[in-house]
Amino acid sequence: MAVRFGLIGCGRIAERHIRTLSRCQGAELIAVSDIQEERMNEAEHLYSTLTSESKPIHKYADYSKLLLNPDIDVIVISTLSGLHASITKQALLMNKHIVLEKPIALSLKDANDIIELAQDNGRHVLVCQQLRYRPIMCEIKQLVDSGAIGKIYLGVVTMRIQRSPEYYSAAPWRGSWAEDGGMLINQGIHFIDLLQWFLGDVQQIYGEMTRGALPKQTEDVALGILTFKNKAKGVIEANSITYPKNLDNAISLFGEKGTISIGGASFDKIYRWSIADHPETEESLEQLLQNRDEHYYMYEDLLHVLAKKKKHVLVDANEGKRAIETIFGLYQSAITRQPVPLPLPSFSTSNMAGETGWFL
Ligand SMILES: NC(=O)c1ccc[n+]([C@@H]2O[C@H](COP(=O)([O-])OP(=O)(O)OC[C@H]3O[C@@H](n4cnc5c(N)ncnc54)[C@H](O)[C@@H]3O)[C@@H](O)[C@H]2O)c1
Repeated sequence: MAVRFGLIGCGRIAERHIRTLSRCQGAELIAVSDIQEERMNEAEHLYSTLTSESKPIHKYADYSKLLLNPDIDVIVISTLSGLHASITKQALLMNKHIVLEKPIALSLKDANDIIELAQDNGRHVLVCQQLRYRPIMCEIKQLVDSGAIGKIYLGVVTMRIQRSPEYYSAAPWRGSWAEDGGMLINQGIHFIDLLQWFLGDVQQIYGEMTRGALPKQTEDVALGILTFKNKAKGVIEANSITYPKNLDNAISLFGEKGTISIGGASFDKIYRWSIADHPETEESLEQLLQNRDEHYYMYEDLLHVLAKKKKHVLVDANEGKRAIETIFGLYQSAITRQPVPLPLPSFSTSNMAGETGWFL
C-alpha cells in the first residue's frame, strides 16, 4: 500500500515537493492545507495534472484538521519557518512521520523538543537540507570518509546571492527574526550543513555581520571563522546583496592529499578536483555534476526507511539541529564580538530582534 502524504503550506517551495511526490513510486499525496484557498487549489491541480489522477485531494484551511486525518502517514511541512516547530510537535503527537522544510526550528529548545518527541513516539523526521542527497556531494563525502583527501586543514563555503526587495515583500515573514531567522538560517544553512557533514562537529565559531538598506531586520552579510573538533579550520563568507543577481555558491576543501573546490550558480562547476592517487575522469565528474535530483533521492530515503530497508534517514532532527546551532553560534558571536564555543546552552532567533550592536 502506498505511503500517504499530507502537505501543510502550499507556497513557493511546495511545488518542488508536489513535483517530487508525483514521481515517487509508493507515495501518494492525499491532503493539503493552506490558509489561502487558491494555493490549495493550485496544489491539487498541479498534482492531479502530473499524476493524471482524478481522485480529489482533501483540503483543509486549518492544518490541525489535516493532522486529525487518520489516513495520512507523513506530513510535509512547508510553511513559513516560524511555524515549523509548533506544527511538527503537534504532528509528532498525532504519530505522524515528518518531512520538514529547513530550518528545523528557530530556537534550540524547539529543536530539542522535536528530537525528544520523535524519539518518544518512534517517528522519523527528515529535515530538507537536501544538498546532502546530491550525487556530487555524496561523492565528496565518500572521499572524505575514506581518507582519500587525507587530513583536511581548511573548508570554505561562499554564498554570493541576490535577494531583491520584491522577494521580501512577496511574503511578510521573510526577513524577520521571529518568523524567518536570518539570511544564514534561510539560505546559508545548506552550505553550512555541507561543511559540517564533511568536517564534523564545530568546536568554536567567531562571526561578524552587517546589513544593507532593505527594510527588514536580518543580516545581509555574514562572515564566520570556525574551528572543528578535528582541529580543521573553516570559513563562511555569505551575502544576499550581490549586485545585480546571484553570482556563485561554492565549497572548497583543502586536505593533505587533495583539493576539491566546486561552485557556480547551482554547484555546476568544478574549480579544482585534484586528489593524489585518485584520478577521476572529466566525464564521470561531469555526470555527477549534472545529476541534481536531490529532492527525489531525499524522498526515496524516507520511503526506504518506512519500508524498513534502512534504519534512519540521512538528515534527521539531530542533523537539523546541528546546522542551526552553528549558525546560532555565529549570531551569538556577532552580538558579543567574542568567539563562541559550541554546543550552545540556548538560543532563539527572537534573541536577535532587540540587538543592534552587530550592524553598527
Ligand atoms: N529546502 C529549500 O531549498 C527551501 C527553498 C525555499 C524555501 N524553503 C523553506 O520552505 C518554507 C516555505 O518557504 P516558501 O518560500 O515556500 O514560503 P511561502 O511564503 O511562499 O509559502 C508559505 C505558505 O505557507 C502558508 N501558510 C501560512 N500560514 C499557514 C498555516 N497556519 N497553515 C497552513 N499554511 C500556512 C502560506 O499561505 C504560504 O502559502 C520556509 O521555511 C523556507 O525556509 C526551503
